[in-house]
Amino acid sequence: MSKTLVTLNVNDATYEVAIKPQDTLALALRDGCGLTGTKIGCDMGTCGCCTVLVDGEPALGCLTLALEVEGRRIQTIEGLAGAERLHPLQRAFAECGGSQCGFCTPGFVMTSVALLRTNKAPSRDEIKAAIAGNLCRCTGYAKIVDAVEHAAEQIRDEDDSVPTPNEMSEKPETQAGDKDDAGIHGRRQPATAGR
Ligand code: FES
Ligand code: FES
Repeated sequence: MSKTLVTLNVNDATYEVAIKPQDTLALALRDGCGLTGTKIGCDMGTCGCCTVLVDGEPALGCLTLALEVEGRRIQTIEGLAGAERLHPLQRAFAECGGSQCGFCTPGFVMTSVALLRTNKAPSRDEIKAAIAGNLCRCTGYAKIVDAVEHAAEQIRDEDDSVPTPNEMSEKPETQAGDKDDAGIHGRRQPATAGR
């Protein structure tokens, strides 16, 4: 099947990716943009591993077509840390032992980022409800909830805020972010994001 070029705005960098119409956002991020922090677990919308933010809202990358999100602001786990510090949620997951494996953790963190943007003092029940779509078969979730709670406290105590997309742009471009001849940031990706 023929491929088409789409322009994806990911972590404030622009990527041109050749995709097939049926390619998912998760696939395009991983294979097209080289952003492998977004994981594909079930690939059918049940595990939350592929959670990214689209215009600030959590979205399942495995159920979102890459074509659907052209021109929209996409945020992945790679875009969270600032130039010199981790995002408060990343710190809290590490400090509280909330980090699980590399498959499920990015999704938990991205979902939690969205939660703390709208609710800076969530109750434990609200945290559990927010992460209900993120599955890990290896944990009782208690430390993950601890981590989100701790991050919320840190953000409040430091009068910090979860980085907004604009704040995120203060960090360096992604590794593939050199400006190319066409003035496009990010990787000009001749390869396909095909399956
Ligand atoms: S990989 Fe998308 S929900 Fe499981
Ligand atoms: S699925 Fe990641 S630790 Fe359980």
